[in-house]
Amino acid sequence: MSIKPTETIWHNGKFIRWDDAKIHVLSHVVSYGSGVFEGIRCYKTKQGPAIFRLKEHMQRLIHSAHIYRMDLPYTLDELCNVGAEVIRANHMQECYLKPIAMRGYGEVGVNPFPCPVEIYMACWEWGKYLGPEAIEQGVDVCVSSWQRMAPNTLPAMAKAAGNYLNSQLIRMEAMANGYVEGIALDTSGCVSEGSGENIFLVLDGKIITPPLSASILDGITRKTILTLCDDLGIPCVEQQIPREMLYTADEVFFAGTAVEITPLRSIDRITVGKGSRGPVTKRLQDEYFAIVSGEKEDRHNWLTPVAAPVAAAR
Ligand SMILES: Cc1ncc(COP(=O)(O)O)c(C=O)c1O
Repeated sequence: MSIKPTETIWHNGKFIRWDDAKIHVLSHVVSYGSGVFEGIRCYKTKQGPAIFRLKEHMQRLIHSAHIYRMDLPYTLDELCNVGAEVIRANHMQECYLKPIAMRGYGEVGVNPFPCPVEIYMACWEWGKYLGPEAIEQGVDVCVSSWQRMAPNTLPAMAKAAGNYLNSQLIRMEAMANGYVEGIALDTSGCVSEGSGENIFLVLDGKIITPPLSASILDGITRKTILTLCDDLGIPCVEQQIPREMLYTADEVFFAGTAVEITPLRSIDRITVGKGSRGPVTKRLQDEYFAIVSGEKEDRHNWLTPVAAPVAAAR
């Protein structure tokens, strides 16, 4: 999906032109992957554009930075306000918002401390991550030969640029073999997550998803699904999932900001359930899309209107 430029990007407290958001090739992040970031969706609602779970995303950004000993000179409220301002400044109705904090240009070497922390926030138009039909028809995926990193190697709960080298291996291998996406196992051989999304199984009306200890990102859509399951009275547990359960589940779906809720219709060319979107997946999709589009009451206060300053809005 090519990027359609918008007018302006926020950098360390100032708005700059899209084309001026450039970094030096010797910036620390380029060689060592020392960046943390977020991917946030802003939805078009009848009440105007609204950002989905803005505070939770910015909180995760702060946590990711903290894990990597990176000081962000902005509070949670300030980052939320900037997020809304970036969307307002670019006159977007619906978009993807990306805050990035990275180690910039300073000294050369692994030690990141001499390199300044640079913060950017950009937004642009974005469609459906796995294609427009994926949400209804589902996608064909495989189990990857690549595993997620062991817990004592790279912290999976930090949304850090370096982690996405692992994600790229999973995604490239899947695509090279004719699949849309890959599912990684963790180092114990149990199901972890997709290259950029969490995974859920439906078995006998009950939902199962891997725990945080399975080297997964603590996904905000994942948390949203857990809450929606509670609301809808769908039993849901977090537990270790052996690989073969993927093949015997009635339904399997991915959840993430990019994929939203996307059904899987086959895994390793084995049909999942009836090979089409199942009823539990559809029920959760209907609830999710009704809330993010503003059609249904935002009972959990998940939407932040872009029009008003955040502090006043929530
Ligand atoms: C590796 C990985 N897992 C899971 C997710 C889903 O997380 P979220 O729902 O917060 O977007 C993402 C997306 O950011 C991801 O990159």
